[in-house]
Amino acid sequence: MSPNLTEVRNQLPAVQASTYLNTGSYGPLSRAAANAIEEENRQQLQAGRLTRMGPSAQSIPASLRAGFARVFGCEAGEVALTHHTTDGMNIATWGVQYRPGDEIVTNSWEHPGGLLPVYAAARRFDLKVRMVALDKDDDEETVLTKFDRVIGPRTKLVSIAHVSWKTGTVLPIDSLAELVHRHDGLLAVDGAQSGGAMHLDMASSGADFYAIPGQKWLCGPEGIGALYVNRERIGDLLQTYVGYPSLRNGGAYDETGIFLPPAGARRYEVGTTYGPAMAGMWSGLQWLEELGLEWVYERTQKMTRFTRETLASIPTVRLVHTPSYAGLTSFTIDGISPSAAVEQLAETGVLIRSVPDPDLIRVSSHFFNDENDIDKLRAGIEGLNGNGA
Ligand SMILES: Cc1ncc(COP(=O)(O)O)c(C=O)c1O
Repeated sequence: MSPNLTEVRNQLPAVQASTYLNTGSYGPLSRAAANAIEEENRQQLQAGRLTRMGPSAQSIPASLRAGFARVFGCEAGEVALTHHTTDGMNIATWGVQYRPGDEIVTNSWEHPGGLLPVYAAARRFDLKVRMVALDKDDDEETVLTKFDRVIGPRTKLVSIAHVSWKTGTVLPIDSLAELVHRHDGLLAVDGAQSGGAMHLDMASSGADFYAIPGQKWLCGPEGIGALYVNRERIGDLLQTYVGYPSLRNGGAYDETGIFLPPAGARRYEVGTTYGPAMAGMWSGLQWLEELGLEWVYERTQKMTRFTRETLASIPTVRLVHTPSYAGLTSFTIDGISPSAAVEQLAETGVLIRSVPDPDLIRVSSHFFNDENDIDKLRAGIEGLNGNGA
């Protein structure tokens, strides 16, 4: 039986306080996550943090890796816990073994979280960055043709977001993986706008590396995320940062400079983590799994479709049409700039955001949103005072 939406929304107090349509920036925290954060904090305060040492300290991280693995559709040994998407993109981008003159292919829509590691690695390793210029009206075939033109024998890495944070376009990462693998290159995917918003299956995606955050579509706390590293790549993706958690059996190093990593992606984890974030993420994820991840994804699709239909029926709205979507929808409104529209809508309690280059308004529709939220968005748009933009 499907979960009861009223009960679901009761577990997310922030969605009652406003018309919550900006999960792409931050998801609402669930009661399950918040309670676990509070409980962990309470224990740390009262019992002390020394109780976190010893074997039992490993149980939440291990469960969480397994939980994230179910979100990714991969094995737990292919998951490293990170702090956020950008952390995962850095681990992947810096860990690739480059030679001077190698190329990294990326595109004009990337978020700084994926793009800046590319720029920094290119500067340090003397690599060339090949930028694909995407356009909001590009269809999938055009996108692939543009990438096909620049991916070649010198391409060591393609770095791309699965879902564009600007337009909401779902990029065809499986076809891009095929293109880059043909030239022995690798694919790193920024999953900030897909992890928790759509069904993922790492094996069929072809991604070598895939980074997701906890705080957006998984409605978890800040400071926790995950990186998938395809098991075939774990031996080749270098550890850029290392520390005791990156060692086999918690201590496999000696004074000659030898250190041995564990078999799995856990080797990319490096030091003490924030217990409340771990506990909150694990409880929040268990709650989502109780609702059913597939139910979450189906509702996200349904609500995004409804959002798009509603917006398309407003005469002043110019929707960015994308061949497929996860939870993001972007558009402009005749006669008002995106930032002014977002500001005015916030005054009516409708929380969305604008994005730059191209300047668009962005709405996030997630499993907890209902038709009433979207009707409030419509009413808010219809009541806007234009600023002549
Ligand atoms: C596509 C994309 N990548 C990366 C990020 C940065 O995410 P994080 O703060 O988890 O590193 C965002 C955040 O909005 C994003 O939309």
